[in-house]
Amino acid sequence: MCGITGYIGFQEAAPILLGALKKLEYRGYDSAGVAVLGRGQLKVSKAKGDLSVLEERLGREMPEGTLGIGHTRWATHGEPSDVNSHPHVAGRIAVVHNGIIENYRRLKEWLEARNVVFLSDTDTEVIVHLINYHYTNVSGDGGLFGAVREALLQLEGSYALAVVSADFPDRIIAVRKDSPLIVGLGKGEYFLASDVSALLAHTREVCYLEEQEITVLYRDHADFFTGEGERVIRTPVHVDWDTEAAEKGGFEHFMLKEIHEQPRAFTDTLRPRLKRSGTGDYAIDFEEISFDEDETWTTAPRIVITACGTAWHAAMVGKYALEHFTRIPVEVDVASEYRYRNVVFNPKDIFIVVSQSGETADTLAAMRFARKEGARILAITNVVGSTLAREADLVLHTWAGPEIAVASTKAFTSQLICLYLLALKLGRARSRISGNDYRRYLASLEAIPAQAEELLARKEAIQRFASRHFNKSKVFFMGRQFDYAVSLESALKLKEINYTHSEAFAAGELKHGPIALMDRDTLAVTIATQTRLFDKTASNIQEVRSRGASSLVITWDGEHSFDTITDEVFRIPKTEDTFSPLLSVIPAQLFAYYCSVLRGNNPDKPRNLAKSVTVE
Ligand code: M6R
Repeated sequence: MCGITGYIGFQEAAPILLGALKKLEYRGYDSAGVAVLGRGQLKVSKAKGDLSVLEERLGREMPEGTLGIGHTRWATHGEPSDVNSHPHVAGRIAVVHNGIIENYRRLKEWLEARNVVFLSDTDTEVIVHLINYHYTNVSGDGGLFGAVREALLQLEGSYALAVVSADFPDRIIAVRKDSPLIVGLGKGEYFLASDVSALLAHTREVCYLEEQEITVLYRDHADFFTGEGERVIRTPVHVDWDTEAAEKGGFEHFMLKEIHEQPRAFTDTLRPRLKRSGTGDYAIDFEEISFDEDETWTTAPRIVITACGTAWHAAMVGKYALEHFTRIPVEVDVASEYRYRNVVFNPKDIFIVVSQSGETADTLAAMRFARKEGARILAITNVVGSTLAREADLVLHTWAGPEIAVASTKAFTSQLICLYLLALKLGRARSRISGNDYRRYLASLEAIPAQAEELLARKEAIQRFASRHFNKSKVFFMGRQFDYAVSLESALKLKEINYTHSEAFAAGELKHGPIALMDRDTLAVTIATQTRLFDKTASNIQEVRSRGASSLVITWDGEHSFDTITDEVFRIPKTEDTFSPLLSVIPAQLFAYYCSVLRGNNPDKPRNLAKSVTVE
């Protein structure tokens, strides 16, 4: 997730672009840049670091001109650096981009075969070179617009683009596909941004670009075209949001916004890796990991996963999934324990490290310990260019976009997607999954984003439930196997932002002690998605209810095994039992969020906690 912006009008562009980038910085903050067109020349300034680094650079030499584009980056392809920052330039053309170009390697080879020289490691650079190639080599009658359209035909993936050229000082061309882009209308001026929050200082009249729509912005008017090039008339809509609400996309808090971004994060993490052929066959393609060339994957005797907090809970789910699909023994440990434990190490093990930030001190220390012992390290992280990403041998990125709220939500479920893909790929490579099952599992994964949307539409039921229980002094979560891992994550969410004494138990452990805690002031939430264990779980629910606890069961749509033994049931769309954590954690995230708000807490900034724990 990056932020893009543009301005064309009668005012100096640079300060307007910087103001917009400030509003968009929550979308990405590892580098920023602008291109301003003045006196027939494009002046490009870009810098690694947050916006203040660019501001300082520009402060000394603010580019003059009344047309420009800007970008704030959340690195996906190529680590954060000056050269990988946007805008990218080819000839007299500059481009800013938000999204991922999935076929960029192929396009890069195609362009290199035509003597194009690349400067950066980004996927974006292929876009500007493609446009420049078509502009200079193909018959010029389509001009810049024709060149952009030609280039779009070759792109696969998601993009919001803004394109300027020193040859056309009277226009900005912009287009969107699967990434948001909004045009703001002024008098004698037009604005462009990924998010309406960046436009509100200047105008409240906006046009949200439709899928594949192209716009050409001039100073005195704007033209809109469908992806097929048909001209369309757009009527602006009036926005009366306040600026802060707009940054949160209309949600009250970043946490709620990020919970709702999970369907999108699922798609972004899955789509570049899940390939479906014309015949309906699926394949998992990790560009990052080659199973054929590296026999570690097929011969390793054991997998070790280490992480902290929520990422550790993802690792627990990963253990269940990897053991189920690959039959390789998996060991999971919290990084702070692992680094000081007298571990029995085997350098042939696959060593996986999971971290949203890629900067957690204990997690990095555990990784460095394993590295010293000779292990090859696979990192699963959300942050391109993080210390973990740079030091690991292999990286699987979660494409969740920046997570701002301290309580992790979309990063967790995106980590699960990576771990499931890995488990399936490895299981198939080791012949532990038949071709038919493989297809069925991947089709189920492909359906998860839509199922998560469906689930989020049921959030009012959780809100009502929270309004009855937010003041409970004890909340216990229980479940078996995958449901136990989700219980741990659910209890952590409630501790973090509601400050409730909440604990998670493996349901079978209840009678070995925790049942002594159950009384009328207890809420017991049971996560029940492992069908073969339903009878066992039902007994546990009866045990807690007979001690006076209130009971909520989270289970599948159409499942009625618990109706008569619990106070309430919340149902989630049915998927494979093994994939249940991707969905069953969402009601728990929502429950923690609503309880926190009802108690008057700020869920985005819980007391005593930091987003990233970079000290021991
Ligand atoms: O950035 P990391 O994933 O390494 O962070 C690990 C934990 O600090 C983190 O998951 C923490 O537990 C979150 N606040 C959970 O919501």
